[in-house]
Amino acid sequence: MKSKASQKKIPVVDLFSGCGGLSFGLRDAGFEVVLGVDNWQDALDTFVKNHPGAKIYNADLSKERPAEICNKFGIKRGEIEVVVGGPPCQGFSISGKRNPDDPRNKLYKSFVDFVAYLKPKAFIMENVPNLVSMQGGKIRDKIISDFSEHKYRVEWKILDASDFGVPQKRRRVFFVGLLGETAFEFPAEKIVKPITAAEAISDLPEESVSGGHGYLTDPENDYQKEIRRGSNVLYNHEIIVHTEKTRGIIAMVPDGGNYKNLPKKLWDTRKVNIAWTRLNSKKPSYTIDTGHNHIFHYKYNRVPTARESARIQSFPDTFVFWGKNKASHLKQVGNAVPPKLAAAIGKKLLKYI
Ligand SMILES: C[S@@+](CC[C@H](N)C(=O)[O-])C[C@H]1O[C@@H](n2cnc3c(N)ncnc32)[C@H](O)[C@@H]1O
Repeated sequence: MKSKASQKKIPVVDLFSGCGGLSFGLRDAGFEVVLGVDNWQDALDTFVKNHPGAKIYNADLSKERPAEICNKFGIKRGEIEVVVGGPPCQGFSISGKRNPDDPRNKLYKSFVDFVAYLKPKAFIMENVPNLVSMQGGKIRDKIISDFSEHKYRVEWKILDASDFGVPQKRRRVFFVGLLGETAFEFPAEKIVKPITAAEAISDLPEESVSGGHGYLTDPENDYQKEIRRGSNVLYNHEIIVHTEKTRGIIAMVPDGGNYKNLPKKLWDTRKVNIAWTRLNSKKPSYTIDTGHNHIFHYKYNRVPTARESARIQSFPDTFVFWGKNKASHLKQVGNAVPPKLAAAIGKKLLKYI
């Protein structure tokens, strides 16, 4: 039997990598992420600091071709065993005459081109769940047929992160393709009792903590112990200070409540259906977004910090977000695949490779 040290890790390229939630989970499962490509430098800065050994490349994937990028990094065809990524969904369009040059198609097409060029043993493509029902399922079928042309057997499934120990209801569709005839079987949901928002963040204080400061309290449960593993200090816990008016309104909403708990004259103050929503401390969080400031802490009169959002996305406290400011950190977190969910898919994928 090979010793652990001599076992070669499976090399992965991550396209539209963002800060690397997907990559980080795969690394946890035992893969080696060699390259992350994105056109957003803040996210790439986070990616490279949290994936030692990985390279990053800032490129517009609608313009640069797989061969150019791979040559730049000395990546040869056949060397990469898994290609992963989440092309933005406006890249999916089969409207009109299926014009292959439709600019909206370029991002998705770039992912297909990378798979066709690198011929990995497998790929994972993540997206929003309504992708599979858009245009009566035609987009989903086109994705499957595009990859079958390159000899991949594609399976897809909508997974909810809360079923995999992530303290968040977050549904995303995953397409997994295996080169050849074998059908990938998705991991079965395991969690009997989902992790709640309070279990994820109750140990984090109401006020900001300057980056690198030690924890102010002990962990209060197993999730917090696990998420703090290897970390003695906090980063990215900078609060957003809302106006007095906003604080006054949200103060009237109870744990788990929303605009309906407010006097009727305030119902229209925010014109979104999730207006003035507070997390429910006893349930997994709502889906973390990219910082729209509509969902508030279950107890404090502010929205969650980037660290609280990262906890809800299952990023460990050792994963530090870099980039310009806290709005950038919140966007990076909100874009990401929860690492724990990615790890569950990765562990299953290992069985096929
Ligand atoms: C949904 S996020 C990916 C999140 C990532 N999979 C994770 O788990 O952290 C999509 C990413 O696509 C990137 N992106 C959008 N248009 C792009 C383009 N033309 N070229 C390269 N990257 C692009 C965005 O900057 C964003 O980071």
